Amino acid sequence: MTALAPNPAPAAAPAVPARPRLLTGDRPTGRLHLGHYVGSLVNRVRLQHEYDAFFIIADLHTLTTRPERDHISAIPALIHEILLDYLAVGIDPEVATIFVQSAIPETYELNLLFEMLVTVPRLERLPSLKDMARDANLDTMPFGLLGYPVLQAVDILLPRAHIVPVGKDNQAHVEITREIARRFNLLYGPVFPEPEALIGDVPTLVGTDGSAKMSKSANNAIFLSDDADTVEAKVRGMYTDPRRLRATDPGTVEGNPVFIFHDNFNADQAEVAELKERYRAGRVGDVEVKKRLAIAINKFLDPIRERRAHYQAHPLQLQDVLATGIRRMQAEARETMRLVRAATGLDYTARLYEDTIDLFGTE
Ligand code: TRP
Repeated sequence: MTALAPNPAPAAAPAVPARPRLLTGDRPTGRLHLGHYVGSLVNRVRLQHEYDAFFIIADLHTLTTRPERDHISAIPALIHEILLDYLAVGIDPEVATIFVQSAIPETYELNLLFEMLVTVPRLERLPSLKDMARDANLDTMPFGLLGYPVLQAVDILLPRAHIVPVGKDNQAHVEITREIARRFNLLYGPVFPEPEALIGDVPTLVGTDGSAKMSKSANNAIFLSDDADTVEAKVRGMYTDPRRLRATDPGTVEGNPVFIFHDNFNADQAEVAELKERYRAGRVGDVEVKKRLAIAINKFLDPIRERRAHYQAHPLQLQDVLATGIRRMQAEARETMRLVRAATGLDYTARLYEDTIDLFGTE
């Protein structure tokens, strides 16, 4: 019996499989707050190490309700704000790609093709669009606002993303994205993955006024960019157990915003447990509980403030983060559109005239 020869060694080490792609992002509409942190930012910071992560600053989406010149001129400052918030919370430009939607010309191009792959009644059924129209005081639906989810599908599919972490309010838009990807692949061949929404049990943070949701417009938010004194003042004015008149009255912890914030942001959970016990027994005043909360939130925000201060002191680095992210996304978008033009046959002009004109800058 002859011994089997060992398998020949592979010619090269097997390629490291590319990490699956993730895309998510925000419209630049203002500073981010603690509600955004617990609702999505903390997840993004974690997921950026598991996925090849793309974060889009979706400036074009803001035009769907506000196309005016006045609004457009406000966008650059809003982009700057959100970019600083991203970096401050720990999105790492060394591993993740942050880019601005309007800097990717292929966005407009793919949007037109996707418009052919979805019906008007399908879009008209989405409650999110009606809500947005109402919130913007529009009494009829602009064509572009109806196309909001189509544009979002473009954002997701231009980098051919697999995973889209979003809130429940955006779940239907990811579903539309899947339908568009499926329809495209059916008509033209497999180009796009069918991306999955990652909803999770995204918690909603209460506002400082005790209302169900922290939001900028409700004036009940603590911003990631608030300084220590502002945080202290906001916490001092926070809604608490309204039935409690004196520090010696037994208080309610459950559903009390002051304790919800303690649960979420106080790193010293032993302190929180002790405060709850004393609060229930009427052995600690709201003043002290709030004083400790302000200290805890400020401790939580300190490293965030430090990273923000670093980038504020190094504007060229900040500029470089965006330039690098935009270049990376532009390369991905060019590659996707090359695949799209080849699959659809819409490269015919380039083929017919390839010797005379460089239509898409592909030379
Ligand atoms: N629609 C998102 C919002 O509610 C913003 C957004 C635009 C987005 N394009 C996206 C989210 C792509 C996830 C993926 O603000």
